[in-house]
Amino acid sequence: MTDLGAVQGGAFAPDCLKGRTALITGGGSGIGFAIARALSDAGANVAISSRNLDRLKEAAQRLRNSGAQILAVAADVREPEAVNAAVSAAVERFGGLDILIANAAGNFVVPFSDMSFNAWRTVVDIDLNGTFHCAKAAYPHLKASTHGGRLIAISTLRALEGWPGCAHAAAAKAGVMSLIRSLAIEWGPDGILCNTIAPGPIDGTEGVKRLYEDTGEAAVLTANLPLGRLGRGEDVAQAVLYLCSDAASFVTGTDLVVDGGRQRGQRGAT
Ligand code: NAP
Ligand code: COA
Repeated sequence: MTDLGAVQGGAFAPDCLKGRTALITGGGSGIGFAIARALSDAGANVAISSRNLDRLKEAAQRLRNSGAQILAVAADVREPEAVNAAVSAAVERFGGLDILIANAAGNFVVPFSDMSFNAWRTVVDIDLNGTFHCAKAAYPHLKASTHGGRLIAISTLRALEGWPGCAHAAAAKAGVMSLIRSLAIEWGPDGILCNTIAPGPIDGTEGVKRLYEDTGEAAVLTANLPLGRLGRGEDVAQAVLYLCSDAASFVTGTDLVVDGGRQRGQRGAT
């Protein structure tokens, strides 16, 4: 597995999240794993959750090798009771929950005319309803956090652009962005900061494999990105770390774009 979590000299104090607990859905792979690495490196206790417990355990072991406190707990975000149980497990193990990262997602390329009802329902259920279930389960604990709770959803600007081949994920992620903005306002008085992060294409991930490599678009995409490279897991993870840190205590209701300038256009494109 590509090590997306290897941070080369992060800019934050190594213990800036000491005493806090984070739950990261989809934390056993890809961008979620990079986030788990960054938050645990910053001193947080970290719970990682998804469907595949074997993969989670392996990821947890890799994180523990650097001395971090890690819990691996299986849950399908489509099932509210499973999400509640995962949140409870993190709270029981670590004594509270300060940070929830809604990162779990499902996506695949399919033209809308070929998209089955169940294909649409599945992606919306994982991405949008899954984020709702996480927010619901986490709320009382984030409210009780003495550090100020943080809810961060991983989205994508493609949700707002019109996304041919991924209409289901586009609609779901746009819904996630809207949900987070509403919660930022409703939960501000509770001291809970709610933001999204919108990554560009991140190297070595399932997302890039499905959307760009399998479709033969990877080379053109990379050549035309303003910074001339795909993102790294740690690029996203450091942005998450910022939003979780005290440095971001006045930042809520925003979409932090971490895309190497892709939203401003592509080199060579007319
Ligand atoms: P990934 O490794 O496939 O991450 C998705 C994670 O979600 C997996 O760990 C998966 O684990 C988990 N998951 C899927 N369905 C689930 C379910 N029903 N319940 C619980 N967990 C579930 O892909 P990735 O590319 O790193 O994507 C991570 C996030 O970044 C996603 O939100 C994606 O939309 C976003 N994003 C990615 C890119 C990119 O370039 N990769 C760009 C923009 C945004 P299990 O299989 O064990 O459940
Ligand atoms: N093209 C068209 N339809 C597809 C598809 C594809 N590539 N992959 C799945 N589907 C359809 C299935 O045919 C099914 O519809 P049907 O019942 O009408 O036949 C529906 O989607 C659900 O598929 P299923 O495999 O039963 O779902 P699942 O719950 O087991 O898995 C997925 C969820 C489909 C999202 C799966 O790809 C997954 O687990 N993804 C997680 C990782 C990921 O997507 N990472 C990238 C994040 S950007």
